[in-house]
Amino acid sequence: MIDWISSPSGPLRGEIRVPGDKSISHRAIMFAALADGTSRITGFLEGEDTLATARAFAQMGVRIEAPRPSERIVHGVGLHGLRAPDGEIDCGNAGTGMRLLAGLLAGQKFDSILTGDESLSKRPMQRVIEPLARMGAKIVSHDGLPPLRIHGKQRLHGIDYAPPVASAQVKSAILLAGLYADGETRVREPHPTRDYTESMLRAFGWPIESGSGWAKVSGGQGLRATSVMVPADFSSAAFFIVAATLVPRSELVLRDVGMNPRRTGLLVTLRAMGADIRESNQRLQGGEPVADLVVSHAPLRGIDVPAGSVAGMIDEFPILFVAAATAQGTTRIRGAAELRVKESDRIAVMAKGLRALGASIEETPDGAVIEGGKFAGGEVDSAGDHRCAMSFAVAGLLAATPVRIADCANVATSFPGFVELARACGVFLTSA
Ligand code: S3P
Repeated sequence: MIDWISSPSGPLRGEIRVPGDKSISHRAIMFAALADGTSRITGFLEGEDTLATARAFAQMGVRIEAPRPSERIVHGVGLHGLRAPDGEIDCGNAGTGMRLLAGLLAGQKFDSILTGDESLSKRPMQRVIEPLARMGAKIVSHDGLPPLRIHGKQRLHGIDYAPPVASAQVKSAILLAGLYADGETRVREPHPTRDYTESMLRAFGWPIESGSGWAKVSGGQGLRATSVMVPADFSSAAFFIVAATLVPRSELVLRDVGMNPRRTGLLVTLRAMGADIRESNQRLQGGEPVADLVVSHAPLRGIDVPAGSVAGMIDEFPILFVAAATAQGTTRIRGAAELRVKESDRIAVMAKGLRALGASIEETPDGAVIEGGKFAGGEVDSAGDHRCAMSFAVAGLLAATPVRIADCANVATSFPGFVELARACGVFLTSA
């Protein structure tokens, strides 16, 4: 088990680029594998989650070259060119990998089995199994939990589906199955979620109609190889955005950050709390908005986070908990019950850890009430959750004495090199 020690640190300074976007990297491999022709992906996230997805396609006969770090050349096999995998497909820690693959594999001519690590094995899959079954898929699980046994050779048909939870993974699984289905497949979301599946389908030449909170595809078309430039992951940038905001005298520049408006809800929230985050060099890169962010220290005040903003910052709550616990006044979070079924129960893990550092947090079923204050040092447990581990590391920078964080190895799923990059900005973070 890897533990970290995060110690009170001086200002964060310099210019950094965090690794590539996880959501886009998963999808880039998937669409490139199913396309006709050879695609080039640059800025690919070399994280354990996305490497597991690349391995899954290699197991199904797709040749993927890695000429340089963060670059992949994918020799697409066409929509019907995958072959039966040479064993179970291990998705590791990745909910995105498993749920999207479930949709895609439901339409194949062969059987497959999706497995995952201890955390993924506890995550709800009924949310994809149910709509896929309505489309004609046959997927057997253990009471809605992995492993998933997916039976091939099923005839799929389009559906019109309104998922009860706002989830880009559920939407994407259904749309991917929709590529193999007869007729039209439509998803209507309770709140708009990240739209990378929609934009990437378009980039790979598949006609798709979509708008805020809905998307529609028809089966039976084809994907054409293209090149994908993956921007830096906003969710990884978030730890540095908050760290530079909280540590006095900081001024940090984050380059090439993906600024898709369905992802950047944390910026809206932090600015409402008083943060000083400027955007420069705004541009489109491979169809996605990208900017450099200049973050300067600023004192924060607590706010009521509107429930409607949850989907746009779903992965940023662990770090928001840290920001709120140092802000002046009270922060109320609600409508965020989904946090309980992420890589860990993020409400429980963050509340327990920050309380161990002296913070005042009351858990609610779908959020928390957090009183701002100061952190003492101490010991916390990330519960193997990458985003909780990195959030506690940021808390340690502001603590009175060092903070020891247990179980940090899974940071490599989304943010390889986090410790080194943090140190390069002036953070005192070590592996214990
Ligand atoms: C993701 C969607 C979100 C997010 C996850 C990545 C995606 O999950 O939390 O990290 O790439 O589609 P949900 O769809 O479960 O909200």
